Amino acid sequence: FVVSLASSDGFLQCLSAAIPNQLLYTQSSPSFMPILVSSVRNPRLFTPTTVRPLVIVTPTNASHVQSTVICGRHHDVRIRVRSGGHDFEGLSYRSERPEVFAVVDLNMMRSVRVNRRAGTASIDSGATLGEVYYAVSKASNQLAFAAGLCPTIGIGGHLSGGGFGMLLRKYGGAIDNVLDATLVDAEGRVLDKKAMGRDVFWAIRGGGGESFGIVLSWKVKLVPPPKVTMFKVPKSIDEGVIDILTKWQVVAPALPDDLFIRVVVQNDVAEFQSMYLGTCDMLLPLMESHFPELGLNQTHCKEMTWIQSVPYIFLGSTATVEDILNRTTSLDMSTKATSDYVHQAIPKDGWVKIFILLAKPNAGLLIIVPYGGKINSFSEAATPFPHRGGVLFNIQYMNFWLATTDGSTQTKWVKDFYAFMGPYVSQNPRQAYVNYRDLDLGVNVVVGNVTSYKAAMVWGEKYYKGNFKRLAFAKGKVDPDDYFRNEQSIPPLVARK
Ligand code: FDA
Repeated sequence: FVVSLASSDGFLQCLSAAIPNQLLYTQSSPSFMPILVSSVRNPRLFTPTTVRPLVIVTPTNASHVQSTVICGRHHDVRIRVRSGGHDFEGLSYRSERPEVFAVVDLNMMRSVRVNRRAGTASIDSGATLGEVYYAVSKASNQLAFAAGLCPTIGIGGHLSGGGFGMLLRKYGGAIDNVLDATLVDAEGRVLDKKAMGRDVFWAIRGGGGESFGIVLSWKVKLVPPPKVTMFKVPKSIDEGVIDILTKWQVVAPALPDDLFIRVVVQNDVAEFQSMYLGTCDMLLPLMESHFPELGLNQTHCKEMTWIQSVPYIFLGSTATVEDILNRTTSLDMSTKATSDYVHQAIPKDGWVKIFILLAKPNAGLLIIVPYGGKINSFSEAATPFPHRGGVLFNIQYMNFWLATTDGSTQTKWVKDFYAFMGPYVSQNPRQAYVNYRDLDLGVNVVVGNVTSYKAAMVWGEKYYKGNFKRLAFAKGKVDPDDYFRNEQSIPPLVARK
């Protein structure tokens, strides 16, 4: 590990005076490494040369977070904040460049308070999606939360970037259901929606993690899914998957909002994974009229409650509802991923070529998520997340390799695949999903101690399109000195008076 160079005694003394010592883990503490590793998902981002934090702060209340920010400002030590640690580039716990920084790890601030009558929940950022889903289902079997699939994702990062899952066509993304939030800003103030103002409240709902401060908690609207019917139907090239996918890409985004069918493609097989908000008897005629090519029948249907669908889809059919509370992550496999948005159907010969690339040695996989319905119903400017009307689907390209190997072939496959997809995906800008962060899309340049707006446009417009400039002005309002920054944070623009 690269050892921090700056003298940071003043910062550590300041923290010790304000925060109980048992919540502070310096590099010499025996618990430093276990805490640091605890939510690292990707060993590619955790190697002997990874720039590690000077100290990890594990706050238990807002005042600890405020004190960390105030001490950091005073002693010129920056902060990275971690909720679930799933950032695709590990920006919540590591720095690309040698610098002195602290990590605020919110894993002790993770309560979920459900108001059954109002159909809302107040969620601390350190809670995982699994913990939220579990708490909501315990409070009422009539309520659910529309967010992502992986139960160990942290609420803090997920809601900062968008958050979509199997309910996106019916209820939109997680950010579309945020009612309020509490933010610690760069002055160490605690601000709610009213106090932070319209622009900053707009910005924190999809404008990416970290740039605007530390979000302590979120108030969200819950949604009412009835029982659901799930299916997973694999189709291989021999079973005509290329024709089926060519049809799927136009059908899936235009289906009734109650029906969501995503596809995971690997080797020569595509698995169609679906959630339908109704019974199998209702689903079968719908599939027969819209998508008979899949050949869905009674034997494919699995009727269950919404909460049972969470482990079923992500952890497998033998996993239990309690398994979604397990926060343990494995460090066996490294990954590299990136994403695209598709607005026009890919011609059949494009799919043929895609399968040729998927058949290469050390090839990765695709996770293809249809949009349409509610998520497309918002205007591009409603939230910073601009991937709305006209989007047919999001594709994630991912590859993985044993942590003990170097992964260069697998990483190259992702790059080559991204290059190949150029003609088939969105252009000018080529859009990407910020929650599938990829530093290969561009990194910040700091000029005169402030992140350059011009340099950041390279990656910023891919994630945010025309919303990028408004995000920069929101940043200019709440953090004009650019205290909260990382390799892909929003640069501040300050409006001329
Ligand atoms: P982490 O703690 O690493 O934070 C991510 C970013 O947000 C960092 O920049 C961090 O500093 C910042 N941040 C974290 N907490 C903050 C806070 N309280 N205030 C301000 N900034 C904060 N996405 C999706 O939409 N649907 C899906 O189904 C999936 N599935 C999925 C599976 C797997 C295995 C992975 C690894 C990832 C996904 N994702 C996803 C992507 C996921 O939504 C994204 O990585 C989130 O940013 C992760 O949030 P965490 O809090 O876990 O990350």
